[in-house]
Amino acid sequence: MELILDTGNVNEIKELYTILPIDGVTTNPTIVAKEKKKFIELIKEINDIVGEETPIHAQVISTKYEEIIKEADFISSIRENIYVKIPVTSEGLRAIKELSKRGKKITATAIFTAHQGFLAAKAGAAYVAPYVNRIDNISGDGVNTVRDLVSIIDRYNLNTKVLAASFKNAQQVLELMKVGVHSVTVPPDIAKAMMNHPLTEWSVNKFIEDWEDAFGGGIKTWD
Ligand code: E4P
Repeated sequence: MELILDTGNVNEIKELYTILPIDGVTTNPTIVAKEKKKFIELIKEINDIVGEETPIHAQVISTKYEEIIKEADFISSIRENIYVKIPVTSEGLRAIKELSKRGKKITATAIFTAHQGFLAAKAGAAYVAPYVNRIDNISGDGVNTVRDLVSIIDRYNLNTKVLAASFKNAQQVLELMKVGVHSVTVPPDIAKAMMNHPLTEWSVNKFIEDWEDAFGGGIKTWD
């Protein structure tokens, strides 16, 4: 399963990219707006941290077919390894179909149903991104929607990965790992929640305390 960071905060990316096996970075217009930087500058800063080989997913703001195509051409010219995120509206789907035909790498986003995910995959999107927590927030079942989508994509052997997005807690991520989701994008706080446990910290402190009681401070295993 791919683990992607859902943020445009370069300090968080720097910190987590050093520690964790990160497979990419996703942004959306809200995430970019929070950083108060020019889009192109932000993508370049992220690129400098993660390197050319790590994929970045960046979203169009246009909503009309012709404009989406133009913007997708611009975004995909920024760097080699970039996925253009396009919301699955009817105009967006039309653009996904055309751009995929032209060989562009597309991440279909803002997906709320397995049907939408299936249609975007069939239109040629490399990734389809269902919004787990936003589905939960409208009394839907985000985990179940993603489970359905993964099984549809796998059953019909579509050349698309399900990139589950919009998480509010680490348990939602765990549930999706159990159903074999291909990829998840998580904000920094959830990446940290997956990594840290207070009892790990407590155990380490106890190991050091016991060691120092016996051998004194500053003594290493090689002494
Ligand atoms: C990522 O691709 C999505 O845009 C993002 O996960 C949406 O998350 P949110 O629902 O927390 O805004």
